[in-house]
Amino acid sequence: MSGNGGKFTVAVIPGDGIGPEVIAEAKKAVEAASAVEKTSFEWAEYPFGASHYVKTGEILPASAVDEMGRASAMLLGAIGDPSVRPGILERGILLTLRFVFDQYVNLRPALSLPNVPAPVPMTGKMDSVVVRENTEDLYMGLGGISGDGRIGIPLALERGSYKLSGDLNVRLLPEMPFAAQVAINTRAGVERIARFACETARKRGEKRVTIVTKSNAAPALYGFFEDTAKELIARECPDMSAETVNVDAICYHLVRKPDAYGVLLCPNLFGDIVSDLQAGLAGGMGTAAGGNIGDGLSMFEPVHGSAPDIAGTGRANPIAAILCGAMMLRHLNLEKSAAAIENAVTEYLASSPGKGLPFEFSGEASCAEVGDTVAGRI
Ligand code: NAD
Ligand code: IPM
Ligand code: MN
Repeated sequence: MSGNGGKFTVAVIPGDGIGPEVIAEAKKAVEAASAVEKTSFEWAEYPFGASHYVKTGEILPASAVDEMGRASAMLLGAIGDPSVRPGILERGILLTLRFVFDQYVNLRPALSLPNVPAPVPMTGKMDSVVVRENTEDLYMGLGGISGDGRIGIPLALERGSYKLSGDLNVRLLPEMPFAAQVAINTRAGVERIARFACETARKRGEKRVTIVTKSNAAPALYGFFEDTAKELIARECPDMSAETVNVDAICYHLVRKPDAYGVLLCPNLFGDIVSDLQAGLAGGMGTAAGGNIGDGLSMFEPVHGSAPDIAGTGRANPIAAILCGAMMLRHLNLEKSAAAIENAVTEYLASSPGKGLPFEFSGEASCAEVGDTVAGRI
């Protein structure tokens, strides 16, 4: 986990589309910040993603996963490309890594930044964070499609703290094709993310955790999530108030008042959706950083995907990836180095109105130009 005498090995999957473009800039920022606390970084780079898969048929070999497990941390650009059917690589690489390393937290801050125009006017600034459960819910990969009215799905998987076994056998009459996907939330899974949400709120000096739910429509799955999270918070964090807001309503409230929330505790699927909404409200996908955090290897990746629509044009905004670098350094207890990157990003944006901004904010600064300017300010 920790570096040896200030030396850190970072496993890197640049991935697909704009992934390699933004990761190059994140590495520049981390390299520049290494002067702050006299650290050094060795990058163990892996080719996994669409072109590697198309060329070799290989998705994510177990030997590489073992090796990654020995790194101090991991950076990932984005996975997914129109040349490969959706799900193969996203599940086979990204979700597999989150699950294998039991990265149960997906931490996704949404911040207003200088000169980044917000689409919705707000009185204050956005400073909120999605604490997304990252190993359960509809993401477990337990599903199937039937052509003949019958499905038998083996419900077998292992997580850090439990093993699941059994089958789901379903018959549909009259026979017709159908699909089923099983979602599971466990007490251990909900409690650990609720605890993390409380700790996050405490560190932020706040007294409220907003639980994003949908217990009115799915009382088993989300009623359980809501009740378990509330009980944990009442028991372990009695100073914290746990409010519940349905996911549909939170989307409405967020658009009307993006600066009204602090910690949003979400089940996996809602956390995915709400974090894109938050990114949009804060001004753009290109500044939304995130971390997949667990007790073992943690992996830092922007909220955004591979953006095939702008890949190769130089128009990608690397700030999200650069801020992932800062999150990674903070995770490695390099607070001053992390702050140096964050300050450089803020100063760059504050001092570069108009053409100096990334294309995403109607400027003309290319991905590499933004990265060079930020690195130069660290
Ligand atoms: P996306 O996030 O890639 O793109 C959504 C929109 O945001 C696009 O218009 C894109 O141009 C823009 N955008 C994203 N990042 C940007 C940046 N840094 N700067 C400027 N604009 C940016 O979402 P999508 O289109 O749904 O997905 C594309 C592919 O990425 C799919 O294969 C999807 O599965 C995958 N994906 C991967 C991850 C990941 O690896 N973490 C996350 C989301 C999506
Ligand atoms: C994200 C992505 C992934 C997710 C996809 C690519 C599987 O959208 O990291 O937000 O849904 O978690
Ligand atoms: Mn997403």
